[in-house]
Amino acid sequence: MCGIVGYIGTQAATEILLSGLEKLEYRGYDSAGIATILSDELNCVRAKGKLHNLRSKIEQSENPAPIGIGHTRWATHGKPEERNAHPHMDMAMRIAVVQNGIVENYRELREQLKTQGHEFVSETDTEVIPHLIAQFLKEEVALADDNSDVIFFEAVRKAVNELQGAFAIAVICADYPDELIAVRQQAPLVIGFGQGEFFCASDTPAIIAHTRAVLPLDNGEMARLTPLGVEVYNFAGLRQRKHVRMLSLSPTMVEKQGFKHFMLKEIYEQPGVVRACLDAYFSSEGDGADSLINLGLSESVYADLEQIQIVACGTSWHAALIGKYLLEQLAGVPTQVQYASEFRYAPAPLIPNTLTIGVTQSGETADTLAALSMEKERRQGLEPKYQVRLLGITNRPESSLGHMVPHIINTLAGIEIGVAATKTFTAQLMAFYALALDLAERRKILPQENLAEIIAGLRHIPKEIESTLETQEKLTEHLAHEFAETQDFIFLGRGINFPIALEGALKLKEISYIHAEGYPAGEMKHGPIALLDAKVPVVAIATPGSVYEKVISNAQEAKARDSRLIGVTPVNHGEAADVFNDMIPVTEVDELLSPLLTVVPMQLLAYHIAARRGLDVDQPRNLAKSVTVE
Ligand code: F6R
Repeated sequence: MCGIVGYIGTQAATEILLSGLEKLEYRGYDSAGIATILSDELNCVRAKGKLHNLRSKIEQSENPAPIGIGHTRWATHGKPEERNAHPHMDMAMRIAVVQNGIVENYRELREQLKTQGHEFVSETDTEVIPHLIAQFLKEEVALADDNSDVIFFEAVRKAVNELQGAFAIAVICADYPDELIAVRQQAPLVIGFGQGEFFCASDTPAIIAHTRAVLPLDNGEMARLTPLGVEVYNFAGLRQRKHVRMLSLSPTMVEKQGFKHFMLKEIYEQPGVVRACLDAYFSSEGDGADSLINLGLSESVYADLEQIQIVACGTSWHAALIGKYLLEQLAGVPTQVQYASEFRYAPAPLIPNTLTIGVTQSGETADTLAALSMEKERRQGLEPKYQVRLLGITNRPESSLGHMVPHIINTLAGIEIGVAATKTFTAQLMAFYALALDLAERRKILPQENLAEIIAGLRHIPKEIESTLETQEKLTEHLAHEFAETQDFIFLGRGINFPIALEGALKLKEISYIHAEGYPAGEMKHGPIALLDAKVPVVAIATPGSVYEKVISNAQEAKARDSRLIGVTPVNHGEAADVFNDMIPVTEVDELLSPLLTVVPMQLLAYHIAARRGLDVDQPRNLAKSVTVE
């Protein structure tokens, strides 16, 4: 939520900031703003709504300023209006601040600052920061000798020590035009190193066009960027030794490459993502003698395991539900899946030898991080069998989650820009297949030939997705034409495909704004069937296996209530052709592997309906890709 970017160097900052913000717009798009310093004057421009509004405000003026900060906002405190847009300034309009996160004690600070004569113009928590810095700056200036070059840095450091919450900040001051201060406390911030120019940003796509040399700040660290270099300190003011590393991301990965939307491009990238996961998680030669699985997890993760608990949100929670199915059915480990936002306030009783898994594509979801740190805390100091064991499944190993947990499964989907998760979901499923098989193998639950058979089945998945993608796309586009004005949708699935029904409904809700519900097909008769009539289409996932006939019967019950039935199903199997009004074909595979195929038409259907409705598919209203507030 919210994206921040900063630049100091020799080029004009404005365009660098604007193009950086474009790449961060997935983090929020309620308003945007930039502040630059030229000839010791601060110039701040802000606009409500998307970045193009800010761009059109700025384009009328030339601004060669070589330092600046920028922000794209997902509103938390205060409506999405221009006065609440960042950057925020002090009363003298010399200091500008952008923030991603929440300053939890802003009310107390605001009251205290008011008694010192400060007046506020916005409803935001952020505005206290430039005022607080201004207050400390006055004191620092009074105390400092003429040679001190850390006056501004010290004022920011002291202000930051007063803040409570989770935040990343970038600050500039017109009186110190050669300094940009970047601060990280539980919200992501990376520093970029160019030739005589330096950057900071909430995420690497914002700076990849300029540099691949980066240094992610850790919590409790702040960086002083000047035209001469970067110094990193902790909040106590002690210099930190850090190592720059090179990103593998390339600038083209964050382009649409001919697709109309990032979401469609990312749906089409799924075969490649599955291949990348197969290459990373499984040995290429299944000779049966050695382990077929290369997750690289130490025995301490698995030893004497009594249960697994998984915390996640949204689409990652749906992936976790499939994970539960796999972990229980393949590896025989009792597994619970919790919404991270609920777990924190009502944790399950402590069970010894528990593995806790956080699933988050961004690695920054505040609810998931909070649930994991609560789990860590409540197990601290207990006897060994109760001690915490944490594993993360994420697409961003460099994220806050990556810093928090000792073991990570990297989901290798590549950067996902569309706000609706697609390829990262599929990659999370691949991580769960590998984890469940690894566990099954180590616990000697699954005979080696079954294991090899499942892995062989997984190896066919990329080809199966590829061979149906085009047909599915045409069919879903056609259906989108018919259903673009529909008000309610029901998605049905059972067993391992029930979470896919939930995911289908979530995809449709979030990008097309159509009301949709996912149900386990057998539950319809216990209430929701009352919703059905000719105006409510039902999408049923019917794949061969233990529940195929049951799903077909449940679909028929819906048909008897006049619902139009869309089957996501192998077309030549069983009664499908007689039951469904429309069919989106998926290849017949082992039931256990079917979610990797059935999810694709769900994504395409939602995509085409939203595109048909003329909606902003990649940046749906009210949403942000990285949900860094609880
Ligand atoms: C839906 C979607 C969200 C996220 C959720 C968790 O398409 O993207 O529901 O899945 O906000 O995000 P992560 O996985 O980053 O923790």
